[in-house]
Amino acid sequence: MTQDSTTSLRQEFAATIGDRAPSPWRPAFAAVPRDLFVPEFYQQDERGRWYRVTRSDRDYLRSVYSDTALMTQLDAHGIPTSSSSEPGLMLRMLDALNANPGDTVFELGTGTGYHAALLAHRLDAKNVTSVDVDAELVALASQRLNEFGVSPFVHTGDGALGYPPRAPYSRVIATAALRNIPYALMEQAADNAVIIAPVGFGVTRTTVHAPGHAQGRFLPMPALFMPRRVSGNGPDFGGARGQAPESTALPVADVLDRWRFPLSLALPGFSSCSWRSDDGVLIGVGLWTEDGSTATAHTNGQVRQIGPRRLWDTVEELASLFPAGRPVREDFGITITPDTQRVWYRRPDGPSWTLPIE
Ligand SMILES: C[S@@+](CC[C@H](N)C(=O)[O-])C[C@H]1O[C@@H](n2cnc3c(N)ncnc32)[C@H](O)[C@@H]1O
Repeated sequence: MTQDSTTSLRQEFAATIGDRAPSPWRPAFAAVPRDLFVPEFYQQDERGRWYRVTRSDRDYLRSVYSDTALMTQLDAHGIPTSSSSEPGLMLRMLDALNANPGDTVFELGTGTGYHAALLAHRLDAKNVTSVDVDAELVALASQRLNEFGVSPFVHTGDGALGYPPRAPYSRVIATAALRNIPYALMEQAADNAVIIAPVGFGVTRTTVHAPGHAQGRFLPMPALFMPRRVSGNGPDFGGARGQAPESTALPVADVLDRWRFPLSLALPGFSSCSWRSDDGVLIGVGLWTEDGSTATAHTNGQVRQIGPRRLWDTVEELASLFPAGRPVREDFGITITPDTQRVWYRRPDGPSWTLPIE
């Protein structure tokens, strides 16, 4: 494919990603070649096995210039550890960031460098700082950013610590899922800074209104980001099997769909799985958190729980709070103070969940 047809692919891509609403970021999506930052990625076949897609594959360019997240790094267990996020979601998050030339921007999660390139293209590259925990990714991103001709400041480290030498930042954006808004980022945020950060399966937009204090709401769109890398325990299904069964009247098959978003706030960082019979019928779901708490629920209504937290009890509480399931994200907000971070429903004094602070 020639350079010209890539240009027109990019233009069509930039015009159609997300909800097609006007955005000052569309020209950046038209200008920055996503293929330069994502020369290869991984896809799963129908049996869940990963295979590599490279430039020489027929559908490579079509996939790169489509509104999909592309997995770019897998760990030894085949779990994705880095990706180029869904462009439409990036666009909506950038819109919400409300950044303009002159703003100093901090990005947590450099990954491929594509998002940093979008920032550097529309804003002043010298005011853009991007940090990733993975040195290899940072080296590759930096090489590709140079090749594209922009030079934001990229750095290897834990993005939750920010990067004090270049603070304060008037805009902060995280492209990895967080358990809370890291306090170092609050400290490095300027007055009235806007912070966009995925928390649970949603994206928060907060404004700093006094040192250490911020408040805001969740954006309407769903978001499933790679979690910020931390270590923790796996599920204890064996232990759960040994527990006496309790019973639930909840529709087990719907739990992970209808209450997934509030669950991600009430049980930060939870993981889940489901089991199916040979003919594909759902027979149960499992939930666990990194402290080793585990719950299983069978579609016959039997629940088993083990560990320091009774995870299924939280599911029951959320189901009674949101009986219709699927509450909308923009009804949730977040209040940050130097001592606590709370996510609330509808009003700051409504039902709320305290986020863990590491
Ligand atoms: C969805 S990817 C980011 C995509 C990236 N913005 C892009 O345009 O390609 C999430 C990234 O967050 C990084 N990450 C995870 N934990 C981190 C941490 N504690 N500090 C900084 N980066 C982290 C991962 O290495 C991964 O590259």
